[in-house]
Amino acid sequence: MADSRNPSRPVRVFPDIEMLSRAAAEFFVRQANLAVKARGRFSVALSGGQTPSRTYELLAQPDYRDRVAWTRVHVFWGDERCVPPEDPRNNARLARQALLQHVPIPEKQIYPIKCAISSEKAAREYEARLRLFFAGQPPRIDLIFLGLGADGHTASLFPGAAAANEQESWTAAVPRPGQDLDRVTLTLPLINQARTVVFLVAGKDKASILKKVLSGDSDLPPLPAQLINPGDGELYWLVDDEAAVLINETTEEKKLAKTPK
Ligand code: 6PG
Repeated sequence: MADSRNPSRPVRVFPDIEMLSRAAAEFFVRQANLAVKARGRFSVALSGGQTPSRTYELLAQPDYRDRVAWTRVHVFWGDERCVPPEDPRNNARLARQALLQHVPIPEKQIYPIKCAISSEKAAREYEARLRLFFAGQPPRIDLIFLGLGADGHTASLFPGAAAANEQESWTAAVPRPGQDLDRVTLTLPLINQARTVVFLVAGKDKASILKKVLSGDSDLPPLPAQLINPGDGELYWLVDDEAAVLINETTEEKKLAKTPK
């Protein structure tokens, strides 16, 4: 699997999480409109964790909400923690509270990963649902939001875990014995077919891993986040100043300031 340790990867730096989230919300609106115009529907895989929550809140506000044809939107997740839907650690719960409960998207177009009982069974069911959704079409999710963990994981693709090396299936169960929660995740065979993948990374605790992921040490095996490489798609990194402190990228504002009038 080619890895993508390419320091010239399009990284956009924003002064803070608010500006980053506004850019991410704009990405969502733009990709949604392009997809609906081209194919009559928009598929998006939302990320878990805390970083995207402000993006989801913004998308529920009229400035963004009213620019999306929600009846054409289909929502998946990049991964899920295997806890009951009402558990505060559940990724779908976070997105429903911040966004999905506030927009006119049909419930039948929301595809949560139900893995509170069995992660293996849930992974198989999730893959079957995705294959049904893409039946007869290239399995290209229009937009995938991803986060970056301090260990270089993304979605629930953890360093050294089997799921990060899956070459065939589109989903995988991620047993996390004794450490965390069992999880279900999308895998590289599906993620790397996406039309657009957008990493959202914020905060000073991500500075070190962001630098490592974007530069990378070719002598070491690539981290899961470095294996995200949508060959025929676009990959963007939206990061805030704090996370970007160790990479020599200029913020969007400074770039604009330098742009000749
Ligand atoms: C999860 C996410 C995970 C997350 C990163 C970053 O379910 O935990 O899918 O990959 O995106 O760990 O999390 P934060 O945004 O909370 O830092």
